[in-house]
Amino acid sequence: MKLTGNTILITGGTSGIGKGLAQHFLGLGNTVIICGRRNDRLEELKAQYPDLVTIQCDLTAAASRENLVRQAIHECPDLNILVNNAGIQLTGDLTNPIDLSALEREISTNLIAPIHLSSLVVEQLRGRPEPGIVNISSGLAYTPIAFMPVYCASKAAIHSWSLSLRKQLERTGISVYEIAPPSVDTELGHERRKDKDQTHGGMSVNEFIDEAMKALESNIFQVAIGQAASMLDQRDALFERLNANF
Ligand SMILES: NC(=O)c1ccc[n+]([C@@H]2O[C@H](COP(=O)([O-])OP(=O)(O)OC[C@H]3O[C@@H](n4cnc5c(N)ncnc54)[C@H](OP(=O)(O)O)[C@@H]3O)[C@@H](O)[C@H]2O)c1
Repeated sequence: MKLTGNTILITGGTSGIGKGLAQHFLGLGNTVIICGRRNDRLEELKAQYPDLVTIQCDLTAAASRENLVRQAIHECPDLNILVNNAGIQLTGDLTNPIDLSALEREISTNLIAPIHLSSLVVEQLRGRPEPGIVNISSGLAYTPIAFMPVYCASKAAIHSWSLSLRKQLERTGISVYEIAPPSVDTELGHERRKDKDQTHGGMSVNEFIDEAMKALESNIFQVAIGQAASMLDQRDALFERLNANF
């Protein structure tokens, strides 16, 4: 993927990985559109980066997703890249009746939104120079942590869907990338933390972005970064072992 001269819509650019990607892509001479629910964050970023296009939206709502794509294309008709980055991470107790609204919120943010948004931009991306869709999955797509069961399942589904999307879009010329981050020090999971100043911990956002950029530039369509790589390698090795006599 060329790293300059694109018009890129990044979901969830108000913090963490999305914000880091937006800053990095802006610095490389791309047009960047970000979205998020927190308008104060969008306004702050717009003041800091006047060229940045900001759109407030709540990705859990279909109408908001449709409006996001409509507005992004209206303001930036050269849109050629979608980065499905926004996500939330909740815990879940499977020994009791599930909190249905939390379940729906997590699945709609992490899974339904990327699938829906991608389908909405295919027509726009087709025929643009070097079009692409970048999905941010997780090392937890390959090996779940049981106390975040829905989060891990949503990321496993993103990995599976990315494979199918890549296959189906082959004919359209739209490249599909999947980047699986390890633990990265962002605000992820802030809703479930009592101490609001506590961050996620892990690799710094800048270090992660450097690795992600290298993979994108080298046209590596599926990459697991840092510890996420060993989670993928171990799963693949286990699969080989389990199926050795098949
Ligand atoms: N950090 C890690 O360790 C890690 C590891 C593996 C994968 N990931 C993945 O990386 C991606 C980015 O996460 P992050 O770590 O950067 O977390 P973050 O700092 O919490 O950022 C999440 C972003 O998603 C946006 N968002 C969440 N719900 C939304 C909604 N309903 N509508 C619109 N925007 C929404 C947030 O914006 P608003 O709050 O303003 O809406 C925020 O900009 C996620 O997909 C996450 O699963 C992260």
